[in-house]
Amino acid sequence: MSVAVPRPAALPGLAALRGRHFFTDQDYTREELLSLLDLAAALKALYRRRPLTPFLEGRSLAMIFEHPSTRTRISFEAGMTELGGHAQCLRPGEIHLGGHETVADTARVISRLVDAIMARTAFHATLAELVEHATVPVINGLTDDYDHPVQSMTDAFTILEHCGTLEGLTCAFVGKCADAMGTSVALTMTRLGSSMVMAAPPQEQMTPEVEALARANCAQSGATLSLTEDPVAAVAQADVVFTVGWWWMQPEDEKNELRRILRPYQVNEALWEHGKPGARFMHCLPAIRGEEVTDAILDGSASIVLDEAENRKHFQKALLLALIGIEKLPADPDLREIGAALLR
Ligand code: CP
Repeated sequence: MSVAVPRPAALPGLAALRGRHFFTDQDYTREELLSLLDLAAALKALYRRRPLTPFLEGRSLAMIFEHPSTRTRISFEAGMTELGGHAQCLRPGEIHLGGHETVADTARVISRLVDAIMARTAFHATLAELVEHATVPVINGLTDDYDHPVQSMTDAFTILEHCGTLEGLTCAFVGKCADAMGTSVALTMTRLGSSMVMAAPPQEQMTPEVEALARANCAQSGATLSLTEDPVAAVAQADVVFTVGWWWMQPEDEKNELRRILRPYQVNEALWEHGKPGARFMHCLPAIRGEEVTDAILDGSASIVLDEAENRKHFQKALLLALIGIEKLPADPDLREIGAALLR
């Protein structure tokens, strides 16, 4: 199922997003986030008719990756290509960041050369420094120690496609809630009006700081947040169930300990039997099959993980277009309605 193609009148406030950073979606109002989701839906519908929509002809995106990526790298690069621009991938050892050039100098120099920066950094503090010193928009492509807002906004877009609404839904995050994805899903969904149930052992539960932010979102949106150690209770009330990989680059002894404490939170057939009929399963991927999720769930009929992966490109195209902006109304009639919304 796909959402209706929005008309420009339904895309308010996009012009005001030009030049802003996407450090966190919590810097954006609910209305601004919904406009980005509307734009993503319009771009996805347009993509089905014609993949190349050169709104950003001649524009460049620098992509800094301190850690590996499949989805983030490919979706941003393909997205920029489809928008008529260019993306360059900058990995450790290829630029001076982390070597003898400071983060601030790197940010200032890159800002003179490209139109936007997307960065995946090990530490949130590094991204914060890039944001502080860059003079072009900086997009958070995951900070390992805090959040992943382009993924959680994509998840909201995917839920809208499948469920038709975000308001009034209940989502459960099961397992490693302390992960950057647990943080981002909890913050994005509560801001957009979906209630969250976070099921984890105490040592892997969200931090008090993240909980306070999510509760502030709930106070604004009318959503609710609950924390539990009971995965069955969480799944039983959920329209959408999320999980995330239990580890990434940890040593073997840490993996064994995580496996021991998280095993009761594996999303498997036995747990799914307690779920609501029609519930969806989401995972940002990469998945560690047989650990946080079984093949039967990941590949089963409730799983929407491939839509979720594809939608990274559509949401990020909307984000790039809104943050970089356009100079004048496109001559191409296919692009004029979206162009008008960006210039309004
Ligand atoms: N979900 C996600 O960010 O995937 P990558 O690590 O492959 O970019």
